[in-house]
Amino acid sequence: MKRFSIALILVLSLFGGETNESEGAKIYTKHGCYGCHGIDAEGIAPYPKLAGKSAYYLRKRLQGYKKGTIHSGHANIMRPFAQSLSDQEIDILADYLEHLGQKKRSNEERYYQEYEVGDSSGS
Ligand code: HEC
Repeated sequence: MKRFSIALILVLSLFGGETNESEGAKIYTKHGCYGCHGIDAEGIAPYPKLAGKSAYYLRKRLQGYKKGTIHSGHANIMRPFAQSLSDQEIDILADYLEHLGQKKRSNEERYYQEYEVGDSSGS
């Protein structure tokens, strides 16, 4: 029974999108990423937007900062933060940030749809 529940927890954490999402938010907060990239990861110059970028790209960038193979303008700012992340944390963050953008977009679409429908000022 004990072995079964451990297996179940593993399966849930691998395939449960919900779990990864809150895990991603936790890591993002714990490491202070929001301090530069913003709470919803929308970015503000010179800190790039992260939300909605592909997980593949985000993972590649974070691994690059971590290994020291990126020498772009502000890479030295990112390096210590990337180095504080495990490979697993990078994977979780990349998925979390990719979906963060999608969720926000669909909320915005819904907002504009409701706004247009409800707008009776005629202007
Ligand atoms: C002290 C400010 C600061 C903090 C904190 C910070 N970053 Fe960054 N981040 C930057 C800057 C500046 C860049 C642009 C670096 C460059 O020129 O390549 C960047 C770039 C990135 C990129 C590449 C984005 C792109 O479009 O190429 C990713 C991904 C990223 N950060 C993720 C994170 C994550 C995840 C955390 C938390 C673990 C974090 N950052 C914390 C400043 C910060």
